[in-house]
Amino acid sequence: MASLTVRKLDEVVKDGLRLRAARHGRSVEDEVRSILREAAAEPEPGRAPDERPQNPAPTARQAPAAPRRTAPMPGGGGRVLLIIGAGIAAYKSLDLIRRLRERGAHVRCVLTRAAHHFVTPLSVGALADEPCHTDLFDPRSEFDVGHIRLARDCDLIVVAPATADLMAKIANGHADDLATAVLLATDRPVLLAPAMNPMMWLNVATRRNVARLLQDGRHLIGPNRGEMAEAGEAGVGRMAEPLEIADAAQALLRPKSAGVLAGTRVLITAGPTHEPIDPVRYIANRSSGKQGFAIAAAVAAAGAEVTLVSGPVGLPDPEGVKVRRVETAADMMASVEAALPADVAIFAAAVADWRVAAAGDQKLKKTGEAPPSLPLVENPDILATVSRMEERRPPLVIGFAAETEHVIAHAKAKLARKRCDWILANDVSPESGVMGGDLNTIHLIRDDAVESWPRMSKDEVAETLVARIAAWRESRTT
Ligand code: C5P
Repeated sequence: MASLTVRKLDEVVKDGLRLRAARHGRSVEDEVRSILREAAAEPEPGRAPDERPQNPAPTARQAPAAPRRTAPMPGGGGRVLLIIGAGIAAYKSLDLIRRLRERGAHVRCVLTRAAHHFVTPLSVGALADEPCHTDLFDPRSEFDVGHIRLARDCDLIVVAPATADLMAKIANGHADDLATAVLLATDRPVLLAPAMNPMMWLNVATRRNVARLLQDGRHLIGPNRGEMAEAGEAGVGRMAEPLEIADAAQALLRPKSAGVLAGTRVLITAGPTHEPIDPVRYIANRSSGKQGFAIAAAVAAAGAEVTLVSGPVGLPDPEGVKVRRVETAADMMASVEAALPADVAIFAAAVADWRVAAAGDQKLKKTGEAPPSLPLVENPDILATVSRMEERRPPLVIGFAAETEHVIAHAKAKLARKRCDWILANDVSPESGVMGGDLNTIHLIRDDAVESWPRMSKDEVAETLVARIAAWRESRTT
């Protein structure tokens, strides 16, 4: 087997590989291995699977490339001031510096005094490629870049980890060290990535501070649910992953008005629904909500006004998106109706087809006799209902068809049956790894045209869809 050296590739190719790798949280070498594995698994021309596009429109490979959310921003990736607070999650901020720089951002860092216990100015400075700032009264840095300049010479301030103490100080306008003085002196957007013990996160004082910070226009990413550094503790309090923070930072850096979907109202459904059997049991499915959330994030990053109606998922609210969390199909239907009118509606939720006709008020008990029968009734079909609306029907209604066989044929039938305008069909058979995974293979079906996109990440699917919606919008205005 020949070996391949990444170092020898073109700089442009290497940049592309770094971005892909960053997006998938892999090393560049692992990314190359994954690309090769996928390429080897693709069917050869002439030996295609039985379902080929009958009227192949240009594929995403041939079509003009969709804008990539993680690509460097035009004119550079923006100037980010990263404030690293004193938490065990500070080690992830080292990776965050790399992720931000991979997106073309210029990163300057401030380390709080206590953060020195977790990471060193040397490692932070080496990764940022400039000395990091630590002291409010450092004569060298006051002479060079004082706190006022740090506060102003940036486009965005990211605080990661944002400890409970740091958040309390910001919420109350303290300025007794460099980090808080900078935050008080800035008029730039501030993105906080909280990280703390779940009990601290739930503490009434932290709740109050978080509410105040949101009210003051600060942006939050995370915290996520998961295990804590303290043995045996788990809950909400883990700092968001560096990739998530970098995505949120990039969304804040992108000028909204420049978005291709500025002025468009988009309604999206995502995730599963939970249909109660009794107060403690429910019928559910394996939808993770990742694809719908990725679409919401990409559509919002393109400048649209987005409402996301989501079933129960463990995903944080995408930046700049109005999120409505619901449990059942009936709740989702009501929430969708309340969110209309919209210009575009995208139904990515895996809505349960049925619910239990009479869910128990109390927990069902074993009686020692035959198990209870659970008669089901059909749930409202939200996509079909909205597609059939008269006045309030959005001009573009997009559905999903998750199929395990005859993907395109079934999806075409669904398009006709549900009367939507486009269907994004995907193979969700267990071997596809789509359910809960990060990759997806989509066929976009409109009227008789089928456009088959190559296997790509769910973020890339979202961006390709944004490009198609932008083209649709353009075609209506010209
Ligand atoms: O019929 P099926 O569930 O395969 O249709 C999938 C499409 O219909 C998806 O877009 C899904 O969000 C939508 N749907 C819906 N309400 C339902 C069932 C499906 O909106 N009750």
